[in-house]
Parts: sequence; C-alpha cells; structure tokens
Amino acid sequence: MSADREYLISPWIRVWHWTNALLILILGVTGISVHFADPALMLVEFSLAVRLHNIAGVTLVAAYLFFVVANIVSGNWWQFVPKPPGILQRLIAQGRWYSFGIFRGEPSPHLVTKEQHFNVLQALTYWNVMYLLMPTVIISGLVYLYPEFAPDKLFGFDGLLPIAMLHYLTAAAILLFMLSHIYLGTTGKTVGAMFRTMFTGWHEHE
Ligand code: HEM
Repeated sequence: MSADREYLISPWIRVWHWTNALLILILGVTGISVHFADPALMLVEFSLAVRLHNIAGVTLVAAYLFFVVANIVSGNWWQFVPKPPGILQRLIAQGRWYSFGIFRGEPSPHLVTKEQHFNVLQALTYWNVMYLLMPTVIISGLVYLYPEFAPDKLFGFDGLLPIAMLHYLTAAAILLFMLSHIYLGTTGKTVGAMFRTMFTGWHEHE
C-alpha cells in the first residue's frame, strides 16, 4: 500500500456490482418499455421487452442471493452498519458536505479506511437499498412472474394489483437511487476516482 492508494474492494464485490448494475439497467429500460407500452414510444418492442425483463429478473435473483451469502461469509455486511458514537452528528455533517462543503472545496468529513469503507449516509442508503428495496422488488417480481402464488384478495383488491404497485414503486425508487448514486460516485478524489475503484479495487485517498 502507498500513502495515497489502498486496496479495498474484493474482486467478488466488483464482479457482483457491475453485474448488478447491468441487470438493473436492462430491467429499468425493459420495465419502462412494458409499463408504458405505447407503439408510438418504442423503447424496446413489447414482447422482446417482456422476455428480456423476465430473464434479467431471474438472473438478478441469483446475483442477489450471491450478494447476501458472500456478504455473510466474508463479513462485508458489517460495512453497511453505521457505527456509534455520533451517528446522527456524522450523518448531518455528511449531508452538509454533500450540500455545501463540497462546492467550497472542503475535505469530506469521512476518511475511508479498511474498517469503514462508507460514510454514515452511504452505509444507511446502501443498507436500505440492498436489504429493503431489493428483496421487495425481487419478491414482488417473482410473484408477478408466478401469479398462482399471489393471494386472491389483498386490501380488498385483486391480489395481484397491490403486488404490481409495490413492484413498480420499489423499482422506481431503485432507479432514482441509481441516479443519485452515479452523481455521488463523482465526489471522490477526482470525478472518475470512485468509478475506477469499483473496477480496480484500489481506493484513492483524498
Ligand atoms: C451504472 C450504474 C452504477 C454505477 C456507475 C455505480 C457506481 C458505483 C461507484 C462509483 C461505487 C463506489 C462508491 C462507493 O463505494 O460508495 C459504487 C458502490 C456501490 N454500488 Fe454502485 N453503481 C451503479 C449501480 C448500482 C446499483 C443499481 C446498485 C444497487 C441496486 C449499486 C449498489 C452499490 C453498492 C452496494 C456499493 C458498495 C459496494 C461495496 O463497496 O461493498 N450500484 N457504485
């Protein structure tokens, strides 16, 4: 290790991450094509979009199961847990930095270390995306794919309707997360530094 560079991200995280990103992109584009099925707005042809969406969805199930098991086995899950003391103060300081400090050239209040890859805001966001939104979108998607498992009635509606709404809303939240995630990915030492880390595993310290 040199002073300004440290090897942090294991190969399995990087392979999972880019597989997952590609799958979410395919699912986003085909999902939008199926949901807003309008011959005038042909993003991907309808029946092709349905097929690709199903294949990418089932692949995402495998990728997600791999992510969960590998996180448990490697102990990487601990990175996603914000550590006391001062969680709230660090959360506020990080939010302030993203909103103002970064534009004034101030250094990030969080120092990346082997023990703590993520600042509190990243840890909380990633935890919620990976352990709340992802299982929700996956389980609702599987029920959608195998509707015989849907309840006949849910909250007084046909059983599949609330499942479809949940699937749509969580998918939209994941796509919004991805947009903000890509923007925040530019806030490393240089605009491209964090993207490089996710390919090489080497973090560039600020
Ligand atoms: C084209 C799309 C994407 C790009 C360009 C991208 C970029 C990045 C970058 C630059 C990082 C490193 C910054 C950091 O450690 O916080 C990162 C980490 C991460 N990203 Fe993404 N990402 C994409 C899609 C996604 C999606 C769709 C998800 C989840 C649904 C996701 C989940 C994560 C997680 C959990 C980490 C932390 C991995 C670890 O170090 O353990 N990313 N991503």
